[in-house]
Amino acid sequence: KRIAIFSSGSGSNFQALIDATQKGSLQATVELLVCDQPDAFVIQRAQAAGIPTFVFRAKDYNSKMEFETEIIAQLEKRGIEFIVLAGYMRLIGPTLLQPFSKRIVNIHPSLLPAFPGKDAIGQALEYGVRITGVTVHYVDEGMDTGPIIAQAPVEVYPNETKQSLQEKIHVVEHQLYAETLNHLFITEF
Ligand code: GRF
Repeated sequence: KRIAIFSSGSGSNFQALIDATQKGSLQATVELLVCDQPDAFVIQRAQAAGIPTFVFRAKDYNSKMEFETEIIAQLEKRGIEFIVLAGYMRLIGPTLLQPFSKRIVNIHPSLLPAFPGKDAIGQALEYGVRITGVTVHYVDEGMDTGPIIAQAPVEVYPNETKQSLQEKIHVVEHQLYAETLNHLFITEF
């Protein structure tokens, strides 16, 4: 599978997926990073790994349709078959969803449908749940609403801080995402 990863931030999941492709535990090639934040650390990770990047600013375009049309051109140029969202902080619009329907997945740091949207980890702590976790799901037009593919639990300890919980969630994410994608690519394509 020729995949593109979309990320807006630090890119620890991006890195984990690159590492998995290099180890051979994820049977895919990461052909492109798409990033909407020119200062994001994930861009440096891509450069270090020799992966091409398409970096853009939403405000340089008149609409989501316009920048998604440009993204599609970039994806087509590289023969991308599958899109992996990893901390991409935007909703995907119909322009991109239509041609890639069932070929876009996302990872979210909660057990959906609990705590969708921003700051899922903060929401879980605030609510006081004892178990939270990670969800990998197909992307639809909603916010973290598409069909669930895989989930893994993470226990919330009594003295948990946002940082300590985030670290545990990241460890689980990095493993679950590569495993789930590899399984998907082997079984569904
Ligand atoms: C992850 O927790 C992911 O679940 C969420 O955004 C975060 C991205 O972290 N969608 P990173 O940039 O991969 O380190």
